[in-house]
Amino acid sequence: MATGHDAGSGMLPGQDYRRLQAQSLADPEQFWLDAAAAVDWTTPPTVALDGSDALLPRWFPDASLNTSYNALDRHVEAGRGGQAALVYDSAMLGTTRTLTYAELRDEVAVFAGALARLGVGKGDRVLVYLPMIPEAAVAMLACARIGAIHSVVFGGFAAAELAARIRDARPSAVVTADGGIEPTRRVEYLPAVQEALALADSTGTPVVVKARDGFGHGVAAYREPGTRWLDWDEAVAAAEAVPPVPVAATDPLYILYTSGTTGSPKGVVRDNGGHAVALTWSMRAIFGVGPGDTMLTASDVGWVVGHSYIVYGPLLAGATTVLYEGKPVGTPDAGTFGRLIEQHHARVLFTAPTALRAVRRADPAGAAVQAHDLSSLETLFSAGERLDTGTSAWIGDVLGVPVVDNWWQTETGWPICANPRGLGGVPLKAGSPSLPSPGYDVVILDPGGAPVPAGTEGSIALRLPLPPGTLTTLWGSDDRYREAYLSDVPGFYTSGDSGYLDEDGYLFVMGRTDDVINIAGHRLSTGAIEQVIAQHPVVAECAVLGLPDPVKGQRASGYVVLKAGAAIDPASLEAELVAMVRRSIGPVADFRSAVVVEALPKTRSGKILRKTMRQMAAGTAYAVPSTIEDPAVLAALEPLLRPVAGG
Ligand code: COA
Ligand code: AMP
Repeated sequence: MATGHDAGSGMLPGQDYRRLQAQSLADPEQFWLDAAAAVDWTTPPTVALDGSDALLPRWFPDASLNTSYNALDRHVEAGRGGQAALVYDSAMLGTTRTLTYAELRDEVAVFAGALARLGVGKGDRVLVYLPMIPEAAVAMLACARIGAIHSVVFGGFAAAELAARIRDARPSAVVTADGGIEPTRRVEYLPAVQEALALADSTGTPVVVKARDGFGHGVAAYREPGTRWLDWDEAVAAAEAVPPVPVAATDPLYILYTSGTTGSPKGVVRDNGGHAVALTWSMRAIFGVGPGDTMLTASDVGWVVGHSYIVYGPLLAGATTVLYEGKPVGTPDAGTFGRLIEQHHARVLFTAPTALRAVRRADPAGAAVQAHDLSSLETLFSAGERLDTGTSAWIGDVLGVPVVDNWWQTETGWPICANPRGLGGVPLKAGSPSLPSPGYDVVILDPGGAPVPAGTEGSIALRLPLPPGTLTTLWGSDDRYREAYLSDVPGFYTSGDSGYLDEDGYLFVMGRTDDVINIAGHRLSTGAIEQVIAQHPVVAECAVLGLPDPVKGQRASGYVVLKAGAAIDPASLEAELVAMVRRSIGPVADFRSAVVVEALPKTRSGKILRKTMRQMAAGTAYAVPSTIEDPAVLAALEPLLRPVAGG
């Protein structure tokens, strides 16, 4: 591989992965202090890890830095201000716009000034609800510049989900746009923001709105007594550029809410210092991307992949990032990824398996992608859900490059397991996201918390401490963090996934152990959908399961028991429930099916046997628990749950 890397960190391609991995676990202190040399600090760290609280370790406790300085200013100061930092490519509008490092720094500095004029300062939260437009990256980096904490919310979530995040994070400002563009419709954001602020009793919060052509009435329609709605361009025109402020490495950079097993989302907190070090390291060692290279991550800034590898990772590395507004198919066709690779000379494409399956379904021969010059591409990275071997082999043939599956989570912020391409790589194994990244000690545990032998499936756990860049806590609740992730087996972080390690240490991820499901690479909670369905007046109880889906990986399906005496046509009920979920959670839940059943299988203590239903639906072996109340209920459900071919 060409290198394109700076000297200085000691992490050069070709170094032996296993040696680095062993070093990172034997002496994490030295390993991460070495890696920290690739970051510019206002006060450099003398210590890597403060482990005085074993459950809540703090990385680089005596250091300070500014993340936006590291992502922007230092590249300009190094003489690369004219290099493209961000290329906005909108398949929805048919336009592209390139911002150089100098231009992006200037836009960020002025927008940071606009936020400061609204009274936003260090430690304040800013909710960012923006589609895939450059302003999303500008808003995030502007928060980082003034030490504010951004909380980005994906545009496919509805007002109630926005409100839940506003209630939890208590933002000092909201940054949004008129709306997003989906292939079949325009999604108006402002009514949702207005409703969410009202639901969260926060109507006085300042709202900055980026105007986009073709949308509703603009910001003026929302200006009512007691509200503060501002136009982005006007706010910027009245503001002055501000310099980056130093923050403690341990200060939060962002909160990113993700689905847990309950209806209330978990606010994953990421710090500044550990994040900058880990992402910078991952860009070199895992992705093999350095200054001047182009990274095309087809995801959304609302997800962790977007945070890490559309915005922060490529910019920290001095690379060019492509911010793509569009879909993998239909905007206009299945050749879009090929067009993007050719037009922007992408070295790396990173996307989710569902996007690859969508391309394959639309163009089984891959001809539309291959019609483009793909010669710049070196690697395809895939994450967000399990990459099936058929799709992996197919896309590898179409693109003619290695396909690197990588496994991680919102919580970890960067790959737990991946093939370290920047270190020269390791042999690929079909169906595996390869080996643990340096810093991660992956262990498979049995239900009693004991490690299992190679080849045996169990709960995938990470030995503490987690490396830099991983979550430091859940917003506002260290207790919830400890309880949700650290209390199952002392000394380990529980990932929520199950899988096994083979005799060579390669991980195979089999699926979730909890009620989190993954629809088209989007993480959702069945519990949250159940909460919405349970509010329907005729519903006595319900269970929502993730059923296998050939393109989206999973789809949510509801099983509903009616209240005694309730009379409703099942089709009308289904339509009402679908509308309720869409309204409460958003179109992203993609909830389309609700079936009325006589009863749900339960234990004698009244607990619904969701796990057994899930196993039945997934077509995997299942044992009927001895505590089951009435086995006939499960038997009656079986035909409804059996995997449906072709979905
Ligand atoms: N804002 C508002 N609505 C959105 C949205 C957004 N940002 N993203 C999706 N939606 C809506 C869609 O319009 C659709 O609405 P509809 O029910 O009115 O049709 C609904 O949410 C479901 O969307 P989606 O799951 O994306 O299905 P799709 O059939 O429109 O597209 C794919 C299928 C595979 C092309 C698409 O899911 C995709 O590109 N997936 C990749 C996801 C990804 O990159 N994930 C990141 C994880 S790394
Ligand atoms: P998210 O936090 O939205 O990134 O979702 C994380 C979850 O997605 C993980 O816990 C897994 O269940 C799943 N996931 C992500 N990447 C992979 C992968 N490469 N293989 C299998 N599952 C994955």
